[in-house]
Amino acid sequence: MAAERTLVLVKPDGVRHRQIGEVLRRIETKGYDVVALQMLVPTPELLEKHYEEHVGKSFYGVLVEFMMSGPVVAAVVEGEQVIPAFRSLAGATDPIKAAPGSIRGDLARDWGTKVQQNVVHGSDSPESAAREIALWFPSL
Ligand code: PPS
Repeated sequence: MAAERTLVLVKPDGVRHRQIGEVLRRIETKGYDVVALQMLVPTPELLEKHYEEHVGKSFYGVLVEFMMSGPVVAAVVEGEQVIPAFRSLAGATDPIKAAPGSIRGDLARDWGTKVQQNVVHGSDSPESAAREIALWFPSL
């Protein structure tokens, strides 16, 4: 099967808690390649495009505000079936429900009602991955 690419974000909570290396280590240990990497504080314009399917939802404001609260590490990760594989590595969206052994299950610390503070984001489909990679890495 051909290699595919996904967009991974280490969200501001993961950066704040010095978990960048641990997230990348888990990706590389699993056999995937990090092919592009950058650190930035995202703009509201970038986040509006990134989270376009969530615009208007009740949590949209807190999600965007949180994503601008500090630097984010964006990575393009490549490998066979990496889109579903990274979602599996990441664990459930809600850190309370994320299984031990998953990135969110092991590393999320700001849980409780703060679903947005779940350490990482990973694209959920090939279409989302292509759209998100073009947004965060326009030169790729
Ligand atoms: S997922 O993992 O993308 O399938 O999860 P989804 O449920 O579609 O959520 C998409 C993003 O919205 C965030 N989210 C929330 N933030 C704050 N409060 C609530 N209640 C909430 N529910 C979902 C969730 O963290 C996802 O962010 P990303 O950055 O995509 O992981």
